[in-house]
Amino acid sequence: MNIVHGGNIYELATLAGCSPEEILDFSASINPLGPPPGLEAVLSGCFGLLESYPDIHSRRLIEAISNFHDIDPACIVVTNGSTELIYWLPRALGVRSALAVLPAFGEYVKAFEIEGARVQKLFSTPEEGFQPRVERLEAVLGSGAFDAVLLTHPSSPAGSLLGADTIDWIVEKGAGPGPFLLVDEVFVDFCEEASLKRFLERAQNVALIRSFTKFYGIPGLRIGYLLAPAQIAERVRGFVPPWSVGTQAQAAGAYCLGRQEYRLETLAFMEKERLRLGRELAAIRGLEVFPGVANFLLVRLGGGLPPASVLRNDIFARSRILIRDCASFEGLDDRYFRVAVRLPEQNDRLLAALNDVLSDPCPSHSCSSLRNNP
Ligand SMILES: Cc1ncc(COP(=O)(O)O)c(C=O)c1O
Repeated sequence: MNIVHGGNIYELATLAGCSPEEILDFSASINPLGPPPGLEAVLSGCFGLLESYPDIHSRRLIEAISNFHDIDPACIVVTNGSTELIYWLPRALGVRSALAVLPAFGEYVKAFEIEGARVQKLFSTPEEGFQPRVERLEAVLGSGAFDAVLLTHPSSPAGSLLGADTIDWIVEKGAGPGPFLLVDEVFVDFCEEASLKRFLERAQNVALIRSFTKFYGIPGLRIGYLLAPAQIAERVRGFVPPWSVGTQAQAAGAYCLGRQEYRLETLAFMEKERLRLGRELAAIRGLEVFPGVANFLLVRLGGGLPPASVLRNDIFARSRILIRDCASFEGLDDRYFRVAVRLPEQNDRLLAALNDVLSDPCPSHSCSSLRNNP
């Protein structure tokens, strides 16, 4: 199974014969403001502790998450990025069959299939705003026995929130008994008030997958966590290996959650710049922009324009700018690409490059060696 991810600048740099730093990466959606100021000192402050094992219970980090979300520590499990959590969930919860709403992060289907679970796919459509309608969820769930349903909120790569009726449905179904409702909320920090965490107290079988990667701009540190009713958290905790979250990651996570000013700055910046980038992209002839609420935008190429893989290769060849073509997302095709919202001057470079390539498409610029990467 070949899952393609954004942000694979190392492989691409090798293929293209350039350095990773030369690449302006719009393919991974990471806070463009970078990590919170002061984080570097926190990380180097931990240096002396690296000779010891990390706190096996990640107490400071869990306490910080608990305070931030006002959720009991018993309902929190921390992991080495949310990807590690995604791989433990099917085993910890004994999932034999799952319903996955796609398009979504490719690791879900892989993680569940590796554990031997049968995964049925429900494709959300552009007409639905890339979130499934309740009737469709109900219809598929009624047609078979499922142990888990996988949803993403905001969706990825479209960036749309679940509809109010779907949220009501989750709240009702989540009071159990029934399938586990596993909701990926790794981008919800960009609209925290939308998080389903407010319903957790009443829930029996809802679990939220969260991450520090996107909002705090620290994919390299690997911090993810589960928010779930205590009995689910306990089951998952039993599977996570000891010391999964390192000393520096624990300290960094706790530090990040205390940075209210940074958070407000990020939210204000992102709201403004996402709207601007969306407007300017939509002004380019043939591009349709989906209205996301996170730190990226999904774009559809109209007829007459080159497919996204060709566009990606042309832009990269001309400008060393990397966009994410979406053909590898099951449920999307080569008419879609995704871009992160970056700093204004970087977004201007992207807009100029797109305008340039789309007004003068030149297939000869396509670098065939990049076709399947990253
Ligand atoms: C929707 C979604 N969920 C989860 C992840 C995993 O993130 P991490 O393991 O860095 O927490 C990603 C990464 O791209 C993602 O896009």
